[in-house]
Amino acid sequence: MSDRSLLILPGDGIGPEVMAEVRKVIDWFGQARGIGFTVSEGLVGGASYDAHGTPLTDETMAQAQSVDAVLLGAVGGPAYDDLDFSVKPERGLLRLRKEMDLYANLRPAQCFDALADFSSLKREIVSGLDIMILRELTSGVYFGEPRGIHKEGNERVGVNTQRYTESEIARAARSAFELARRRNNKVCSMEKANVMESGILWRDVVNEVHAAEYGDVELSHMYADNGAMQLVRAPKQFDVILTDNLFGDILSDCAAMLTGSLGMLPSASLGAPMENGRPKALYEPVHGSAPDITGQGKANPIACILSFAMALRYSFDLGDEATRLEQAVESVLADGARTADLMGPDGGTPISTSEMGDAIIAKLAA
Ligand code: IPM
Ligand code: MG
Repeated sequence: MSDRSLLILPGDGIGPEVMAEVRKVIDWFGQARGIGFTVSEGLVGGASYDAHGTPLTDETMAQAQSVDAVLLGAVGGPAYDDLDFSVKPERGLLRLRKEMDLYANLRPAQCFDALADFSSLKREIVSGLDIMILRELTSGVYFGEPRGIHKEGNERVGVNTQRYTESEIARAARSAFELARRRNNKVCSMEKANVMESGILWRDVVNEVHAAEYGDVELSHMYADNGAMQLVRAPKQFDVILTDNLFGDILSDCAAMLTGSLGMLPSASLGAPMENGRPKALYEPVHGSAPDITGQGKANPIACILSFAMALRYSFDLGDEATRLEQAVESVLADGARTADLMGPDGGTPISTSEMGDAIIAKLAA
């Protein structure tokens, strides 16, 4: 038994395929580096609904609370589109985030040089790109009350509520400033203070936290719509972007495409430290379950593998091992290995999901 525990929740669609490659990487670290993990596995999303009639059982929720880190593949798929909202696959993921109180969602967008031509933007705009989006993950319109669909007269009305407390904004802001100090020391906070009171409060609190604790970090503010535009105009102006749950969801997909493929982007969702000093944590690729390519060996496992690298760094204080894994990925890409999502305009022959996993392990071992 290792004192490092992981719960693996492969989920739906391509989740199990990409997670199988992460399992190989985990085994490699145990065998070759003597860095072992106690690994358990469970169901989430549609897979859990099929087995238990709920996207996340209480037992799996309790298990997630008890381990050092959860690794999640993806949730959702067309088979579940007509389910009642309360049992949709996404509810399982949102319950994990909420009950583990994973308020800080780190979404790095880095453009590997070998992939700069795969971006929908010109090479010079994205090459060398290295930004980090800090998305608040446990509040805002995703969870605000009141919410629902009700009847007013003879028409239906849909309601969601954007709600942020000062303390929710402040803790997300601190995470962003801390990250910036370990990077290029710049934070750009994005909201819509021009139309939303919650945006006005957001800007105020970010300014207060900055003035009181992080005066050494360069802080700027931007309306989120301008932020989206700047991300595709000149993304390298940013270092850390701090934003709320919904804007963060949208801006991170946008940032992801700058890097060439959604199949490349990892994420870490972190909460408060547990008794052993490690933060509550869940790691998952930014991409979804990709039902259109499920089961065909076409999925890119890199986002999921890089999510495990983030686990090494942020949960287990193994930054050097994380870098080793990230460099193995970079070097495989530099060799020209490409999954189907990374086929350039001039074609080429893609390798399969498991071939990509094997190539990364071969580099680790080299
Ligand atoms: C994400 C996803 C999720 C979200 C879905 C699957 C609930 O899009 O992690 O970005 O909206 O947060
Ligand atoms: Mg999203």
